[in-house]
Amino acid sequence: MAHLDFGPAGLPPSALPSILDSLMELQDRVALITGSGRGIGRAIAQLFAKEGAAVFLTARTEKELSAAAGEISSGGGRAAYAAADLTMEAECAHVVATCREKFGKVDILVNNAGHYGPVVPVEDYPLAEFDKVIAIHLRAAFLLSKLVLPEMYAKKSGVILNISSLSAKTAYAWGSAYAAAKAGMLGLTRVMAAEGARQGVRVNAICPGPVTETQMSKELGAVLAKRMGVSAEEQLAGFLNGLLQGRAQTADEIARAALFLCSEQSSAMTGQSINVDGGVAFY
Ligand SMILES: NC(=O)c1ccc[n+]([C@@H]2O[C@H](COP(=O)([O-])OP(=O)(O)OC[C@H]3O[C@@H](n4cnc5c(N)ncnc54)[C@H](OP(=O)(O)O)[C@@H]3O)[C@@H](O)[C@H]2O)c1
Repeated sequence: MAHLDFGPAGLPPSALPSILDSLMELQDRVALITGSGRGIGRAIAQLFAKEGAAVFLTARTEKELSAAAGEISSGGGRAAYAAADLTMEAECAHVVATCREKFGKVDILVNNAGHYGPVVPVEDYPLAEFDKVIAIHLRAAFLLSKLVLPEMYAKKSGVILNISSLSAKTAYAWGSAYAAAKAGMLGLTRVMAAEGARQGVRVNAICPGPVTETQMSKELGAVLAKRMGVSAEEQLAGFLNGLLQGRAQTADEIARAALFLCSEQSSAMTGQSINVDGGVAFY
């Protein structure tokens, strides 16, 4: 009579869960992912949870966090969240403390939260808006890293991933604070990599190109089209034509690069910024 023999050694089916666990890239890790209620952060949280991590989500909009965490939990993953405005120092501290309360530690920090800010030239850019954009991208990444690094150094292990942007490496008009913040994140990445390298901590960055499915990207596209006096479709087509692949990137494609940089697959990489942009920047 035919029977199913599991694996070359004829292992019993009961061995399947532990074998699958050992194949997961982030088994037993705790990942704190900012800006994870939607868009790229949500895709990263979903993928990390599938790969065995307990994921801690944070952003300002509780409804989106609850939906994202619920989806992960109902798929068998471990997720918790705290709503916070990460431009506020005390709220950054609250997020890290709540993650530790829920899951006991922070092994991985992904600094992803952000918004584009005004789409205007420097001479028209309101200072208060400039400060807000710097605060969510660069200052929050600094504050959260400051909060998790002592724990990572103590256990001689940890990963920080900063979601920067193609805007850090190219020259697009009308987004001075955004480009400056994203370029600042690359400097912060390299300094933290230098400080953490002999203490078991790796720090890298991703520079995504246009991930057109997200709220930030759609809003930016609409404003740019208006400023340029073209339709949103024409603006997008013109922009995508400047990429070697001639297409947008997906949030899932950014998440897969994030998984690589946050797992042991990239164990010899630190201080790097990886372009996931369909071929635009080459350094
Ligand atoms: N989409 C692209 O084309 C692209 C390209 C390059 C880089 N990026 C970067 O990728 C990251 C994610 O962007 P996305 O495209 O996924 O945009 P998104 O869908 O608009 O997501 C942005 C996330 O950041 C959160 N956030 C914004 N301000 C916050 C604040 N003050 N405190 C806490 N959370 C805050 C948002 O939630 P709340 O509004 O609820 O707070 C949301 O969860 C950003 O850093 C962005 O600069 C995006």
